[in-house]
Amino acid sequence: MKTLNGVLLLLIITFAFLQSAQSQDQSGFISLDCGLVPKDTTYTEKTTNITYVSDGNHIDSGVVGKIDETLRTQFQQQAWNLRSFPEGERNCYNFNLTRNQKYLIRGTFVYGNYDGLNQLPSFDLHIGSTKWASISIRGVATGSIREIIHVLTQDRLQVCLVKTGVTTPFISSLELRPLNNGTYVTQTGSLMLVSRVYFSPSPSFIRYDEDIHDRVWMPYVGAKTSSLRTDLEVDTSNLYKVPQLVAKTAMIPANPSEALSLEWTLAGITAQSYIYMHFAEIQNLEANEIREFNITYNGGLNWFSFFRPAKLSVTTIFNPRAVSSPDGRFKFTFAMTGNSTLPPLINALEIYKVLDFPSDA
Ligand SMILES: *[C@@H]1O[C@H](CO)[C@@H](O)[C@H](O)[C@H]1NC(C)=O
Ligand SMILES: *[C@@H]1O[C@H](CO)[C@@H](O)[C@H](O)[C@H]1NC(C)=O
Ligand SMILES: *[C@@H]1O[C@H](CO)[C@@H](O)[C@H](O)[C@H]1NC(C)=O
Ligand SMILES: *[C@@H]1O[C@H](CO)[C@@H](O)[C@H](O)[C@H]1NC(C)=O
Ligand SMILES: *[C@@H]1O[C@H](CO)[C@@H](O)[C@H](O)[C@H]1NC(C)=O
Repeated sequence: MKTLNGVLLLLIITFAFLQSAQSQDQSGFISLDCGLVPKDTTYTEKTTNITYVSDGNHIDSGVVGKIDETLRTQFQQQAWNLRSFPEGERNCYNFNLTRNQKYLIRGTFVYGNYDGLNQLPSFDLHIGSTKWASISIRGVATGSIREIIHVLTQDRLQVCLVKTGVTTPFISSLELRPLNNGTYVTQTGSLMLVSRVYFSPSPSFIRYDEDIHDRVWMPYVGAKTSSLRTDLEVDTSNLYKVPQLVAKTAMIPANPSEALSLEWTLAGITAQSYIYMHFAEIQNLEANEIREFNITYNGGLNWFSFFRPAKLSVTTIFNPRAVSSPDGRFKFTFAMTGNSTLPPLINALEIYKVLDFPSDA
């Protein structure tokens, strides 16, 4: 069975984006096109309306490069240039920001044979002195993305590329998005994105300006499921503010009398995780119809009982304390309760793994 692992990680960033008419506020966004020269260059990427600026004010090392021109059409413009770091073990981007502010930080890496060597690079990504991720580029034209939700412990932030072998670290774009302080709260540590999906057969992924926080939502269709969709407006005003297009679709079991299940495995069996599930009733229920289900995980552990998704309004269910699984595997089951006349449903899911910071980073 297809699992949810890595749905985001191999994302090729060019898919047809869904357009939205209203133009949203980009205030607080920092959108760096790494390797864009000269330093004062800016442009608006036409598929997202995001305004990118050169990374030149945030780093003074590295060499600018460009991906193979024939690959350009596959990617949004911020992937066309990059900055590589042939010199030094560790090269850092610096930002002056506000302490205690929560940010979504996203690095994008498109190799595109910029150096003509056709050799796929591997290197590490750090936040301050703490390792955030290992990047292993999978193909010349395969985009890699890493995202983390991180609260600044100081008025500055460092994002660093660290050499781990013979190949040269590089980065295509670096994006910072302020998030509401009250969302994605952890007991300790920051949240590395494992997967963020909405349950829809659509081929398009969603980000800004559908998503005011520019989270990237990948479409996902589970095995033995069917999908529901509505054209009605859904109330998405809870703290998490999922995009309309994410709220308007949902997945149900193909066989209405069966339970719905979702499973994935986290690398690192001690991994601590936070899981956010977004639900909205998007079917017009008759007076005698009830959709009510229990959510359990890993063989019967209780997650939420007697849940009834609210009519055309998003409810987000998450664990306030980190959870782990002895073998890294998570299996969630959504099963109708005795009084329910309709199968369980889910609209969207976010899975994060905790990154602890041993000291202030
Ligand atoms: C970009 O903004 C313009 C003007 O506000 C709008 O017409 C267009 O639909 C937007 N494009 C996208 C992809 O959101
Ligand atoms: C951050 O602040 C320091 C000290 O005020 C300054 O030297 C530096 O240029 C600033 N960096 C950026 C990227 O604004
Ligand atoms: C976020 O919340 C924390 C803890 O409640 C608080 O200390 C901090 O000032 C808040 N930060 C912002 C930017 O509102
Ligand atoms: C749903 O959960 C409740 C409380 O945990 C339990 O009493 C009930 O039997 C469960 N129903 C089903 C159908 O699993
Ligand atoms: C069904 O609903 C009734 C009325 O709310 C309640 O008393 C009963 O316990 C429920 N039965 C089950 C199996 O959940």
